[in-house]
Amino acid sequence: MEIAPIVRRTGDAAFFERFSEKNAEKVRAFHASFPMYRETPLRPLSGLVNRLGIRGFYVKDESYRFGLNAFKVLGGSWAAARYVAKRLDIPLDELSFERIVSDEVRTRLGDVTFVTTTDGNHGRGVAWTARQLRQKAVVYMPKGTRPERLENIRKEGADASITEMSYDDAVRFTRRQAEANGWVMMQDTTLPGYSEIPGWIMEGYGTMAFEAYRQLPEPPTHIFVQAGVGSMAGAVAAFFASVYPQERKPVITVVEPLTADCVFQTAKAADGKLHAASGKLDTMMAGLACGEVCGLAWELLESCADFAIVCGDEASVEGMRLLASPVGDDPAVVSGESGAATTGLAAMLLANPSCDGIRRTLKLDGQSVILCFSTEGATDVENYCRVTGKKPFLN
Ligand SMILES: Cc1ncc(COP(=O)(O)O)c(C=O)c1O
Repeated sequence: MEIAPIVRRTGDAAFFERFSEKNAEKVRAFHASFPMYRETPLRPLSGLVNRLGIRGFYVKDESYRFGLNAFKVLGGSWAAARYVAKRLDIPLDELSFERIVSDEVRTRLGDVTFVTTTDGNHGRGVAWTARQLRQKAVVYMPKGTRPERLENIRKEGADASITEMSYDDAVRFTRRQAEANGWVMMQDTTLPGYSEIPGWIMEGYGTMAFEAYRQLPEPPTHIFVQAGVGSMAGAVAAFFASVYPQERKPVITVVEPLTADCVFQTAKAADGKLHAASGKLDTMMAGLACGEVCGLAWELLESCADFAIVCGDEASVEGMRLLASPVGDDPAVVSGESGAATTGLAAMLLANPSCDGIRRTLKLDGQSVILCFSTEGATDVENYCRVTGKKPFLN
């Protein structure tokens, strides 16, 4: 485990404003228009609180999101809606599920193919959205992707395949395919000259942050948020920095796998440049196995997040087990590898004497109220059963 402070640099206020409470509420209203919309639960873990000797521990359970087992669909669906709005000149406050899936929109839009790279969850969300819009999706996955994640995307009707490329190379391949075929690239990370859609995707994640904020019975002192390319972490950090005054802003810590540490390396270098991961992206936290930070996300993290931490797969294992077999009467949360990393890490920081230094740096103590996002359920059921010794219940 290693920690680096994120050196504060104030970014573009207008961009930051896109993640304010007012704007996140609009995005949430759009998602709330979906017939399958239910707020995902925020689970208070009182037994764990007593065991760790803190004041509060809350986990937002995204395994319930639209029956898709992860938060990611929030980004793809909002970005697709904004794409439709831009092409057809529809005001944003007129966007609703009914409108975007209507015959009128389908006819005026004609045939569209959305294309993306994914390690699982984002592609499933894009494929699901394309199906709702009665459009096509092409999805590329990095080498080593578990077949179960591929099948879940195919079930949404997408033309999905596992490539021989790393995640970051597959993203560049996707861009070339989009340009060659006239497809719409729906990527959750920026590339040179490509930032509009990733920005929309990040706005979409605002729904998760907004819900958690409204559900919390007390303000959090610490938020742990996991990062692949950092888009979700950036959106969450910007939202929570905007809703609390500076003196009460929670300490926001970005968590990554040791071998996919692009946010950590960028924070550590603190030279105003983006840095690639130092490892080979070999981690069981598939959703976090990204080698390059999203530039837009880094802008938000630099102005709102406080620390970057890297951890091994043991943090994820700890979190998966803790959430599957909770302390005392705490509710069980089905949490997959990428989802459980932050809960596991926070619990390890509080329980392990070897983490004293990091705990002091983060000012974690008996008064701390922690918020973590379990961003996915069991997306690799075989591994989930192996790690937790339990069969996941599917939400
Ligand atoms: C379950 C899960 N959690 C967290 C993340 C990280 O999101 P981001 O790539 O925006 O940092 C992902 C990304 O795919 C994911 O699938």
